[in-house]
Amino acid sequence: MCGIVGYCGQKRAANILLEGLKRLEYRGYDSAGICVGTGTDLKCVKKKGKIRVLKGIVPQDMPGTFGIGHTRWATHGEVNDINAHPHLDDSGKIAIVHNGIIENYLSLKEMLISEGYEFKTETDSEVIAHLLVDRYDGDLEKAVRETVLLLKGTFGIVAVHADEPGKMVGARNGSPLVLGIGDGEMFLASDVTAMMAYTKQVVYIEDGEVVSVDCDGFRTSDLKDREIAKQVDHIGWELEEIEKDGFTHFMEKEIHEQPESISRAIRGRLNLDTATGHLGGLNLSIKELHAIERVKIIAIGTSYYASMLGAYLMETVARIPAMAEVASEVRYKNPIVEMNTLYFVVSQSGETADTLYAMRELQRKGATVLGVCNVVGSTIARESDGGVYIHSGPEIAVASTKAFTSQVTVFYLFTLLMARMRDMSLDRGLEIAKALQNVPDQIRHIFSMGNLIRDLAIKYSWVENFLFLGRGIQYPVALEGALKLKEISYIHAEGFSSAEIKHGPIALINEKTPSVFLVPDDALRDKVISNLKEVKARGGKVIALMV
Ligand code: BG6
Repeated sequence: MCGIVGYCGQKRAANILLEGLKRLEYRGYDSAGICVGTGTDLKCVKKKGKIRVLKGIVPQDMPGTFGIGHTRWATHGEVNDINAHPHLDDSGKIAIVHNGIIENYLSLKEMLISEGYEFKTETDSEVIAHLLVDRYDGDLEKAVRETVLLLKGTFGIVAVHADEPGKMVGARNGSPLVLGIGDGEMFLASDVTAMMAYTKQVVYIEDGEVVSVDCDGFRTSDLKDREIAKQVDHIGWELEEIEKDGFTHFMEKEIHEQPESISRAIRGRLNLDTATGHLGGLNLSIKELHAIERVKIIAIGTSYYASMLGAYLMETVARIPAMAEVASEVRYKNPIVEMNTLYFVVSQSGETADTLYAMRELQRKGATVLGVCNVVGSTIARESDGGVYIHSGPEIAVASTKAFTSQVTVFYLFTLLMARMRDMSLDRGLEIAKALQNVPDQIRHIFSMGNLIRDLAIKYSWVENFLFLGRGIQYPVALEGALKLKEISYIHAEGFSSAEIKHGPIALINEKTPSVFLVPDDALRDKVISNLKEVKARGGKVIALMV
């Protein structure tokens, strides 16, 4: 959740860092700070709370043309000014910002304390500043390389040294870091949004790489100091796409973008003559697709629920055994890689650590893993063996919305492709293809009922507990609905298969716990309606979404 931005160039660094942090605000944070090099020393300002609070205490004429900034989401140590990043070493010469978690920080801290270093914060990140000064002999890049070799865990780091003005050194392992190449100025950030106002030329830093940057250029190397040639990529998004565009917040904007984002996910991928899906990026021949005997889909959060829905489709429509699994579980369970199994990893950001590490573990064991990602050039997109971009455009709100419907759309296309290669008739294929094309208009129709939905939300705004109930294809949708309500409204909500409520959850039903029922237009309709009646019979209020 934390954000990093670094700058070196000719402009006033403080302004650019604050602006970059503002762009990273969407990721959530509880404190923020910047550290700017003046040419002789480093000036650091950090504060609990919002960036506007930080902005208020940063001197307007703060000198310095290079520096680093950070938005912190507390993991180690409480939310306060001291624990906020950047962290300085005792001498105040070195400053660092860090995203991720240093798993061996306690043993490193003990070692550093025994050597006489004093710790000011409760964070895991502070060890990095002390290790750097311990290793520093006039070469920051070398010190970063030596420090990184001692760290276990995940990190994206950027460091500056007062005695090396105009220089920043970054390194990564598991937390994203991207270099931006401007005109006489350079950026390092955890996310391209922090630099998009200045440049669209970027270089993605990989795990195990160190990047040393000044305003004339950059050098990337591995941990053995072997130089690595990097490709410069161009960001395909426009700045306007990461602005709110008249909406109150990004989530509202992104919900309203769905007709267009779904159209983009479908564009060029639906062949109405043959009633099939066309997904060029899979990198699999028809023969290889035929050889697939089962599919496993790995993801977390909203992407996991989209994966459950995808697995349901593949199994019921294309008749391929398929299941979805939570990446954080797959990663640590020594997963079995089965022959003739196709693996998908699904991630909007393409950077989620559990999903990425699960993918690497499966690949290490010989699996073919395809990515379903939104962010072009993200780590999962780059390292997967092929895949499909969902083309949703930037999803700034941390809680996923439009990515979910586009991920599901891509799974419909894949299912159609597989089903039409097997035994689905042309007529049935056409029915599905046309239904898919109609989805954007159907969503527009739902937006036309905005007032009705708002009235319902107001009517139930006093409620503290909600149930979301669905069956079949709508079971994962119910789970996603409950997740969204929890994460956004801080209202307790649980999702269940409506068939399962009689096995326990029914005990929760009362007039203060409404149930949102998803009622399908298929063979399960009557069964869901009968579950709904059971709830009503116990005095439970019901909001039914009828298809
Ligand atoms: C969580 C978000 O932190 O990450 C979810 O709150 C999101 O909304 C999940 O679905 C997974 O992210 P990604 O980028 O891997 O799809």
